[in-house]
Amino acid sequence: MSRRIWLTGASSGIGHALAEGLLAGGQRLALSARREAPLQALAARYPQQVLVLPGDLTEPQTVAALAAEIGRCWGALDGVILNAGTCEYLEAGRFEAALVERVVQANLLAPARCIEAALPLLRRGVRPHLVGVGSAVTWLALPRAGAYGASKAGLRYLLQSLRLDLAAEGIDVSLVSPGFVDTPLTRRNDFPMPMRWPVERAAAYILARLERRPLEIAFPAPFIAALHLLSLLPARLQFAIGRRLARPDHQG
Ligand SMILES: NC(=O)c1ccc[n+]([C@@H]2O[C@H](COP(=O)([O-])OP(=O)(O)OC[C@H]3O[C@@H](n4cnc5c(N)ncnc54)[C@H](OP(=O)(O)O)[C@@H]3O)[C@@H](O)[C@H]2O)c1
Repeated sequence: MSRRIWLTGASSGIGHALAEGLLAGGQRLALSARREAPLQALAARYPQQVLVLPGDLTEPQTVAALAAEIGRCWGALDGVILNAGTCEYLEAGRFEAALVERVVQANLLAPARCIEAALPLLRRGVRPHLVGVGSAVTWLALPRAGAYGASKAGLRYLLQSLRLDLAAEGIDVSLVSPGFVDTPLTRRNDFPMPMRWPVERAAAYILARLERRPLEIAFPAPFIAALHLLSLLPARLQFAIGRRLARPDHQG
């Protein structure tokens, strides 16, 4: 049966590829992102399946209005995929709290607002499933990734904690932790990105597993294993390895 899913960050990258896969599979999607044109393009191809709900998810009134529109059109949600997010790198030489605020707004607070707005709809849904896209970076602290890693570590904890509280209501919660995926976000990076996957491969991997509702979908496996092993090293050794990755020109 066709499921009613709110997918955020559907205008590009992983979210857009997930939308393609879910729509081809017959699901109904409420698509959100700030840029409306890519969402309209999907709606034009799947007019019976798509609700176009553009907006900036860091604005609480916008999130509430989008959820109200979903409620009006569908009455309930069977799934939410909180994928929208951003990345900015911190330069220690000119540390900027405003940058941390921007990234936490987009990657942690916006998902929290979406969860607040979506939960009443999920409670009326069929086998409800809440999914958040975090990041493999939460396995290990990396240089310049302070704001991004903090936001994603916060999202990880939020979802893992919420999962415990929602289990009694029958709402499943899954976390997606990608390594590097080739998207507009990572095309801005000017450092090596080991084992980077094409976006179609990442989306297919996620979609193939989502149905089974695992606690976490992390990939690519060798990349995750390497980060996991590093995270088990003594803190001094982790520090010694990690600081070798730091770039002198970014240390101020
Ligand atoms: N690519 C990777 O290697 C990688 C690795 C780990 C985790 N991730 C995570 O995967 C998710 C998707 O990233 P991506 O790589 O696919 O990047 P992307 O191509 O830049 O896509 C990000 C999506 O989020 C939307 N978005 C960002 N800020 C928003 C806001 N304030 N309100 C509404 N929508 C917003 C963007 O749409 P608009 O610009 O149109 O608003 C876009 O659709 C992110 O959460 C990212 O942190 C990516």
